[in-house]
Parts: sequence; C-alpha cells; structure tokens
Amino acid sequence: MRVDSTPAVMHIEFDLLTLFPQMVEGFFTSSMLGRGQRNGLIRASAHDLRSWATDKHHKTDEIPYGGGAGMVMKPEPIFAAVEELRRPETKVVYMAPDGEPLTSQLARELVQEKHLIILSGHYEGVDQRVRDSLIDREVSIGDYVLTNGTLAAAVLIDCVSRFIPGFLGDEKSLTEESFMTTLLGFPQYTRPADFRGMRVPEVLLSGNHAAIEKWRHEQQLEKTRDRRPDILENGDHHK
Ligand code: ADE
Repeated sequence: MRVDSTPAVMHIEFDLLTLFPQMVEGFFTSSMLGRGQRNGLIRASAHDLRSWATDKHHKTDEIPYGGGAGMVMKPEPIFAAVEELRRPETKVVYMAPDGEPLTSQLARELVQEKHLIILSGHYEGVDQRVRDSLIDREVSIGDYVLTNGTLAAAVLIDCVSRFIPGFLGDEKSLTEESFMTTLLGFPQYTRPADFRGMRVPEVLLSGNHAAIEKWRHEQQLEKTRDRRPDILENGDHHK
C-alpha cells in the first residue's frame, strides 16, 4: 500500500501484433510517443506475427472456407502470440473497419488499462474463432477500409497515450482541445503578426484575456455550426 500522497504514476503498455512491424517502428520512437517511452509513461512494441507461425514457410493466411476473394489470417499464430504475451490484466483489441468507432470517450476508457495487445488484421481479416474467443474489443478508426490495420493501431495508441497524465507535458492542451468541450477548435496564430498582408486578428494582440476567450468561443461555435451541426444538436456541449 502507498503511504505517501504522491499519486501513482500511470503507465500503459501496448503490444502490437502485425505482419508489418516496420510500418510503426519509426512512429513508436519519434515525437511524443518516443518521448513518452523515454519518460517511462508508456511502452509500445511491434511484434511480427510471422514469428509465431510454426510451419516452415511461416504461413499466416489461407484461402477462406466457403470460397470468395482474398485470404484469411489463420488462428494458430494469433492464438500462440496472444497466449505468450497476455497477462491476467491484459485486454486484447482487434482493429477492424466493422469495430466500434474510436472516439475520445473510448480512448479515455482504454487508458485505464495496464496492458493492451492490439491485433492488426490484413487481407479479408482474421478467422472468426479469433474474434470470438481472444478479443475483448473491436475498434474502427473510421468508415473506410485500409489495406491493413497497422496504421489504425498506431492511431489508437497515439490517441490513448495522450490521456496519460504528463504525456503531453502541458495538461492545458487536453482541456482546451476540440472534443473536450465537444466544440471544434478555434483558429491559432503565431508570429509574425503580418504575413504577406494577412494580419492576425487584432483581438489576439490586445492582451485582453476576457475578449480573447470570448472571440475564441465564438469562433468555435461558428465552426461547429458550419462543419458539425450534429454536435450542437446533441445539446451536450458545456462551454
Ligand atoms: N483495418 C482496415 N480498415 C480499418 C479501419 N477503418 N479501422 C480499423 N482497422 C482497420
């Protein structure tokens, strides 16, 4: 039991199972994810599913029973990988275009987990027995189909990691951002104040914080009304 008042540091581990680990190796070590790993807030590893295939050709896919186009990922390497990597607290997520949509709400739920194994599908997807007996959640990053789920998994990992306290360095970014207030974001400007005759709005140079906040909120409302009227119709924005 902890006896001091320091909150326990949050830490989450991601193990990605994919046929293309090289697609995300740079992503895991660059920018904020790289920094999060160096600071010990996250661990993200990509594993080649092929290394769990036991036949001599390291086969991971087969033609579908019942016929049809494309190939289906075989259950054996996926079961072997998950059984080796999972721990009692692990949740297994499958990236699929027919999964539940990724939202900030879902990311906030997933960041509560300690260890996520994320399975990226390829071809026509994975054998249904994997989905029925290994997977806790199926997640889609949008209504379009990618050639494989590896980039989708990278999107999920990025989006979940941002909710770890200290990950962004500046916690204000989380509270000010779009979808936290449920409104879309306001326009941002930086120096110079005049670029090729395009001037930064005067209010932002005024130093009047109340006026700036009012202007930003109006801009958010206007953009939301224009691009995402559905958000306003839901009536649950609170700012
Ligand atoms: N795999 C292929 N398309 C995908 C999508 N839209 N979301 C998640 N995984 C996918």
